[in-house]
Amino acid sequence: MEDKKTLRIGLIGYGFMGRTHSNAYKRLGDFFPELAYRPVLKAVCARNEERVKAFADQWGYESIETDWKTLIARDDIDAIDICTPNNMHAEIAIAAAEAGKMVLCEKPLARTVAEAQPMVDAVEKAGVKNTVWYNYRRVPAVTLAKQLVDSGKLGKIFHYRANFLQDWTINPELPQGGEALWRLDNDAAGSGVTGDLLAHCIDTAMWLNGGIKDVSAVTETFVKERLHQSTGEVQKVGIDDACIFHCHFDNGSLGLFESTRYARGHKALYTFEINGEHASIRWDLHDLTRLEYFDHRDDSVVRGWRSIHVTDGDQPYMDKWWVPGLSIGYEHTFVHQVADFLKSLETGESCSPTFKEAQETQKVCEAVLKSAESRSWKETGVDW
Ligand SMILES: NC(=O)c1ccc[n+]([C@@H]2O[C@H](COP(=O)([O-])OP(=O)(O)OC[C@H]3O[C@@H](n4cnc5c(N)ncnc54)[C@H](O)[C@@H]3O)[C@@H](O)[C@H]2O)c1
Repeated sequence: MEDKKTLRIGLIGYGFMGRTHSNAYKRLGDFFPELAYRPVLKAVCARNEERVKAFADQWGYESIETDWKTLIARDDIDAIDICTPNNMHAEIAIAAAEAGKMVLCEKPLARTVAEAQPMVDAVEKAGVKNTVWYNYRRVPAVTLAKQLVDSGKLGKIFHYRANFLQDWTINPELPQGGEALWRLDNDAAGSGVTGDLLAHCIDTAMWLNGGIKDVSAVTETFVKERLHQSTGEVQKVGIDDACIFHCHFDNGSLGLFESTRYARGHKALYTFEINGEHASIRWDLHDLTRLEYFDHRDDSVVRGWRSIHVTDGDQPYMDKWWVPGLSIGYEHTFVHQVADFLKSLETGESCSPTFKEAQETQKVCEAVLKSAESRSWKETGVDW
């Protein structure tokens, strides 16, 4: 342990993602002992001193800050981890890169393409390591899907289909803005389900199936006005509550995507399915250890969908955990991303998705919103 190099983390924001990332930094060394680097929980930053102190005590951070600028200015921090609402990503990331810090930023990279571009420029100009937490790539079953697609097993791809369905904003009395409800406030979030949920689907889709060329979308805001927690007034809702789009991929396949927070009964139903010439695969976040696979080349009498329990040592990441047949879960996707980030420090390679790659997802999100607004097809300008 002691002869390891350290990566001193400065975490900003101790909400949902602050917890998943802290857990990942803490678990990492136990399960990836071969890595040359180990994370050190140097400091956590949030505005409320009492609460950030309590978080630091609970999770084992050495110190606290209440101003992220002070955190970035510290010499004893190597990497800034941004777990704040979307409207805070750009300012913090650019300042961190300019100070020579590595940057791990939560998704979506920013609210718009224009806001994200100087972030990409800043990390590239400073030459600092960067990554964006599109963590679903690192579900072992999803990584296995990538290996299967890349191996050519599916043959030519015809269709890519993805959903991300939730039901937590149906209540019209739910306010917008303020603590924990910033996702309903367009100023803070930048968009509704498009940037929050579809961004995940788009990142995974382009990683698995290549660039998205053009899109045609429809969005809806079912609840038009909500009380704003910060102003105390009932205000127009600016976010998209639901979004459906279809698209062409660069490889000629068709894509169909749907996301909503109004699908009663669904909490985080992220699913995707890919149909190729020889084989199809599908995956479901609610049953995340399984990858379903159908291969038309199988002997016809036993041909059918098989459900692969992705827990064996020769499947992605699984040699690090328990024994075959025993599952891991959601939190491990973040451990895997930290492991891959630390590995990238050793190899000098980048830890995908980088800011530049996440900017391509941003372009699709923006084209989707523009398409819905103008009721017309939009080119994404994606360079994958
Ligand atoms: N990768 C994923 O699957 C995933 C899941 C959830 C959220 N996210 C992303 O993570 C980010 C945070 O989301 P969350 O769910 O953790 O939100 P959250 O509301 O639970 O936490 C946000 C935190 O940011 C802090 N914060 C806000 N403004 C700040 C400031 N000026 N200085 C310091 N701290 C400040 C808040 O105090 C809070 O601790 C968002 O960008 C979101 O899109 C990603």
